[in-house]
Amino acid sequence: MKFSEMLIPTLREVPSDAEVISHQLMLRAGMIRKIAAGIYNYLPLGLRAIKKVEKIIREEMNAAGAQEVLLPIVMPKELWIESKRWEVYGKELLRFKDRHEREFCFGPTHEEAITDLVRNEVRSYRQLPISLYQIQTKFRDEIRPRFGLMRGREFIMKDCYSFERDEEAAIKTYWRMYEAYRRIFSRCGLTFVPVEAGTGEIGWTLSHEFHVLARSGEDEVFVTEAGDLGYSVDKVPADKKDPKTGNPLKSHRGIEVGQVFHLGTKYSEAFHAVYLDPEGKEKLIVMGCYGIGVGRTAAAAIEQNHDDKGIIWPLAIAPFPVAVIPLGGPETEMFKAAVEITEALQNAGIEVLLDDRPDTAGVKLNDADLLGIPWRVVVGKKGIEKGEMEVKERKTGAVTPVARASVVEHVRARVRNS
Ligand SMILES: Nc1ncnc2c1ncn2[C@@H]1O[C@H](COP(=O)(O)OP(=O)(O)O)[C@@H](O)[C@H]1O
Ligand SMILES: [Mg+2]
Repeated sequence: MKFSEMLIPTLREVPSDAEVISHQLMLRAGMIRKIAAGIYNYLPLGLRAIKKVEKIIREEMNAAGAQEVLLPIVMPKELWIESKRWEVYGKELLRFKDRHEREFCFGPTHEEAITDLVRNEVRSYRQLPISLYQIQTKFRDEIRPRFGLMRGREFIMKDCYSFERDEEAAIKTYWRMYEAYRRIFSRCGLTFVPVEAGTGEIGWTLSHEFHVLARSGEDEVFVTEAGDLGYSVDKVPADKKDPKTGNPLKSHRGIEVGQVFHLGTKYSEAFHAVYLDPEGKEKLIVMGCYGIGVGRTAAAAIEQNHDDKGIIWPLAIAPFPVAVIPLGGPETEMFKAAVEITEALQNAGIEVLLDDRPDTAGVKLNDADLLGIPWRVVVGKKGIEKGEMEVKERKTGAVTPVARASVVEHVRARVRNS
């Protein structure tokens, strides 16, 4: 892709209304733009990063045996009356009437809709277990939307729901999803901690939140010395000590990027979601639900991976793995060589952002740092004379001169696992 043909409106100044670094950098790198409080446009680069996160989520959800569906954003009031959440949910639930004065809401989460689907379609034990997920826009009328994609009103969530014959099977699925979550966040390049979470209003018995530790985190979590497990404020032992080792737990700030819940029969009771067992006896379906904030995951990756120059995308979720930057205009040898190497890389199946803009070397190099593309190939005058290009890693700043004929192999070896 050519930089000049893409909508990448980078900003030099730090936007005044952005408090946290991920929000500032996503605005400055031209990845998102606000249209109203907590509601954003995703621009091409931002959407590319989001799509990479989604791809990882899809692969791991499919591997865990879940099937992708897509439910509507708009739901009728009646379903929310059945679960009693029309009253309980409060003002975060955005409600409206259609032209016939019928009442609806925008989905903040989809237990009602999915349980309604499953109670209508599942009759027999033979149709269970089943896990269904979607990646979809949610709406929550948050009182204080802030921090960009981190706490929006409209945001993209992956939500998965599992339906099992009994408690034992449901708990097994819970831990399978828990492991899938570990893989998803690892593959996204995040350092995270699973946190035993409180029981809250819904009354679930087992739940973990996945937290990315960062100063900007909105939640307090108490983490073991080894960093392998944490406790939320309402789950932490009174003495704030690790029950296993007796060592003190350390207080951190965390960004909740995902949460898994064992729901038991809360929704299947409310919706009379039942199946017939082999003896023909009616049994309640046992449920779990599993959410990931897609935009929040991308933002959390930036909170953990940046420097004073800009974003340092983890390779797997970078909008492009590679940028090619000629240090001269279209009439120069540098530019011609840059176009050639871009084509060669693309032929090798690598996505490349070619900075073909008529700007100075300084502008292009600064923007490359800001955008956080993990690898860059710089084509300068000296290199052309020596038959070399410079390959630079964003994260370490390490520069390697590579013979022109070896650039594709060199780069391919570095982006292969993305
Ligand atoms: N307002 C929001 N903006 C962006 N992402 C959100 C928002 N609310 C929730 N999420 C994401 O969706 C995931 C699942 O949501 P859930 O656990 O139901 O929400 P909450 O923890 O706010 O009650 C959260 O772990 C988080 O990553
Ligand atoms: Mg949560």
